[in-house]
Amino acid sequence: MKITVSSVDITRVRTDCLVIAIHENGGDSPSARKVEKATSGLIRTLVKAGDIDGRAGSVLMVPAPHGIGAKRLILVGVGQKPDADDFANAAASAARRLCATRSTSAVLTLAEISASGIDQSARARMLAQALHDASYRFNQLKTTDDKKGARAECTLKRVTLLPGTGRTAAATKTGVKEAAAIASGVTLARDLGNLPGNLCTPSYLASQARKLARSHGLRVSVLNETKMEALKMGALLSVSRGSREPARLIVMEHHGGKRGEAPVMLVGKGLTFDAGGISLKPAGAMDEMKYDMCGGASVFGALVAAAELKLKLNVVGIIPSSENLPDGAANKPGDIVTSMSGKTIEILNTDAEGRLILCDALTYAERYKPAAVIDIATLTGACVVALGNPATGLFSSDDKLAEELLACGESARDRAWRMPLWKEYQKQLNSPFADIANIGGRTAGAITAACFLSRFTSNMTWAHLDIAGTAWHSGANKGATGRPVPLLSRFLINRATAR
Ligand code: BES
Ligand code: MN
Ligand code: ZN
Repeated sequence: MKITVSSVDITRVRTDCLVIAIHENGGDSPSARKVEKATSGLIRTLVKAGDIDGRAGSVLMVPAPHGIGAKRLILVGVGQKPDADDFANAAASAARRLCATRSTSAVLTLAEISASGIDQSARARMLAQALHDASYRFNQLKTTDDKKGARAECTLKRVTLLPGTGRTAAATKTGVKEAAAIASGVTLARDLGNLPGNLCTPSYLASQARKLARSHGLRVSVLNETKMEALKMGALLSVSRGSREPARLIVMEHHGGKRGEAPVMLVGKGLTFDAGGISLKPAGAMDEMKYDMCGGASVFGALVAAAELKLKLNVVGIIPSSENLPDGAANKPGDIVTSMSGKTIEILNTDAEGRLILCDALTYAERYKPAAVIDIATLTGACVVALGNPATGLFSSDDKLAEELLACGESARDRAWRMPLWKEYQKQLNSPFADIANIGGRTAGAITAACFLSRFTSNMTWAHLDIAGTAWHSGANKGATGRPVPLLSRFLINRATAR
C-alpha cells in the first residue's frame, strides 16, 4: 500500500472510498461540512436516523453516495473532544472498515481533526500506521481459499491523506514517512514472530539477517557455535546443547552516525522455541512459545526502520538465537555453567533460559562501548501477570534512560511501565554453589529476572524491556503484534534528531 500526501477536492475526487470524521454532538470537521453541502445533508440524515452517532470508533459505510465523486463514503466517529485514545480508536476503526471494502484507492481526511496531546505529524503517523496495521495478513502458509472472508487480503493500493495547510503539510509528510518505515519494521517483526518453530530456526533468522544486509545496507555478521566456544559463551551454549538446531549469534549494524560514535545497542532474545528444557513446560498453549524470539524480531524491525529512515545514528542489533528443548545433552537442574563474563551460574530451572542466552550476548555487547544498551525479551510469565497486555515491563538502573523510553512508549502508543530494580531483590538470586542462581524463587519473578541481567550490565547504561505480555495476542485473533518496534523506532528517531 502506498500512502501519499496531496490536496484534493474531496467532493469531486474520483476514489473508491472517501473517509471523513464526524464529531459526537455536532462541531463537525471542515470535510464533513463540505460533504454535507455536496450531498444535501446526507450526514445529518444519517445521524437523525440513528445510523451513526459520532462516538469515537463508531463507523458507517455508505455505498454510492449522491453528490460526491467517491464510490463509497466512510463516516467515522471521533467523539466530542477527541484525545489521543479517541483518535487512535477512530483511526483503527476507519482503517479496518476500509480494508473490509474492496476499495483499491481511498482518500482520508482524518488527520485534520485536532486531538488533545497529539500534533499534526503524530496524527498523520497514527493514521498511516493504522492503515498498515489493518492491512497486515499472515497468509503465506495457507494454500486454500481460506484466504477469503475475514482473512482476505486488503485490496488497498493507493491512499491519499490530505496535507492540511502551511506548516502542517510538512508535518503530515513527516508523519507518513515515519509510519511507512515503522510499518516495515512492525511487519517484519510480526512475520518472523508468526512463523512456526520448525521454519523459524536460529539459522533461518541468520539467513533473514543476511537478506537485510543486501536489501537495507546493514552490516551483518553471524557467529556460529565454534566462535561462541572461542568466546567462552558457556551460558548460551548450555541452552543450545539440548537442541539439534545449532545456535547463532546475529549481529546487525546500521552505520548512519559519525564514524567511531558510540552506538545504541539493541539486544533481542531470539529463542525460536521454548519447551522449557528438562524443566518441561505444561502442554497447554505451548505452541505460543514459538513467539519466544519476538525480542529478536523487534530488533530486526527497529533496524529496518532505522535503515529506511536513513537515521543519522549508529545502531547495533545483537540477537542470541537458540532453541530450548529437553534432550540427553540438555541442561539439568543443578547444573553449573560458566558465562562469558566469567561468572558461574547455577541453573535451578532450565526454563529460565532467556537470561542465560542474554547474559552472554550482553557481555559481548560491552565490546562496542555502547552509548546505551536495551535488551528486549519475552522473559517472564510473571511480567504478564503483573502488567497484562497493555504495557511492556521496563527495568533500568538509569533514570534518564528509563524516562526517555517511557516517553517514547507514550508517543508511539506502545507503552511501557517501569518496575523496580532495588538491591533488596538481588539477594533472591544468591546461590551457595555458584556466583548466581538463574531463578529467584516464587515472588517478583519479572524483577528477579531483570536483576539477573543487571549483573551482566553494570559497566553500561542499560535498560531491559520484558515483552512477554505485549509481543503477541492469544485467542481467536492470535498473532504477533510487532511490539515494541514502534517504541524502539521512536527512541532511535529521537536519538538521531536530538543533536
Ligand atoms: N519464554 C518464557 C517466558 C514466558 C512464559 C513468556 C509464558 C510468555 C508466556 C521464559 O523462558 C520462561 O519460561 N520463564 C519462566 C521463568 C521461571 C522458570 C523462573 C517463567 O516465566 O515461568
Ligand atoms: Mn523458558
Ligand atoms: Zn523463554
